[in-house]
Amino acid sequence: MARTKMIRRWRKNMDVTDDTEYVDMLTTLSEGSVRRNFNPYVDIEWDSPEFAVTPNDSRWVLPATDPIGGHPWYQAQPLQRQIEIGMWRQANVAKVGLHFENILIRGLMEYSFWVPNGSPEYRYCLHESVEECNHTLMFQEMVNRIGKDVPGMPRLLKWLQPLIPLAAGPLPIPFFFGVLAGEEPIDHTQKNVLREGKELHPIMERVMAIHVAEEARHISFAHQYLHKRVPHLRRRQRWLLSLFVPLTMRILCSAIIVPPRAFWKEFDIPRSVRKDLFFDAPESRKMLRDMFGDVRMLCTDTGLMNPIAKLMWKICKIDGPPSRYRSEPQREHLVAVA
Ligand SMILES: [Fe+2]
Ligand SMILES: [Fe+2]
Repeated sequence: MARTKMIRRWRKNMDVTDDTEYVDMLTTLSEGSVRRNFNPYVDIEWDSPEFAVTPNDSRWVLPATDPIGGHPWYQAQPLQRQIEIGMWRQANVAKVGLHFENILIRGLMEYSFWVPNGSPEYRYCLHESVEECNHTLMFQEMVNRIGKDVPGMPRLLKWLQPLIPLAAGPLPIPFFFGVLAGEEPIDHTQKNVLREGKELHPIMERVMAIHVAEEARHISFAHQYLHKRVPHLRRRQRWLLSLFVPLTMRILCSAIIVPPRAFWKEFDIPRSVRKDLFFDAPESRKMLRDMFGDVRMLCTDTGLMNPIAKLMWKICKIDGPPSRYRSEPQREHLVAVA
């Protein structure tokens, strides 16, 4: 009896057709996907001479907005070494990104498998999957061209990842928070690099510009999806979710932003630098916190910020004020934060 009630509620949650505002938003996003989309082998001229990856190209030096790139230890290294580290780091971020998107695609497929006929969520989820497939193609091509055999995600997460997409069917709300935990840090970092305006390798520049443009829709969908459902959860479910969210944000963000063990070994980076970077120094703390302003806003708006949850955000070192609007740039001076 209880089980059938649960399944009935689960099915009802997937029926969105009576919410015209939500349906309109999905239609806008789907039409956006049709109007503005990219194909990695049409929109990137991989074989043109200026896209060639050549040795000693200083455009691979990490930008200052990258936590490693902004560190005095990195900046004091000889140029050649800065380039080597820069290439490895940028290739690995792309690899982690494509690993993450691979999981996301499988999750979207799992979720859309269950949505009822006529649901506009089916169409949007499929558009998003197509875009993510193109992103994984584009990121893998970039890794191959850079030519560093990077591992991507940390090993433990590689072992656990087959289970994550399975959650998207029965537990779509935690799944979509997981989606945000991957998309927000990547998007935030890429936007910061583009805003910084440093000269980048054309491959990096093009790939990031395409990614940022399409990711805006994906993030928007995840926010709207959660906005619609979270406020209607039962109290106990909401309370559990409020603790799950900061934890997931922190774990997935670290998997993306912190380079794997192979990186520290390969470049023999001092332990003190590693600690500074992730996340002992005030600069890196601020960077970590700034990535989640939009998620804090979402949690505040949907009733996921109770005193215990706030403590959890603090323990995970990602507490701070919520954004006032999505993608609000975090420009306050570091001294004020420190
Ligand atoms: Fe993507
Ligand atoms: Fe995405």
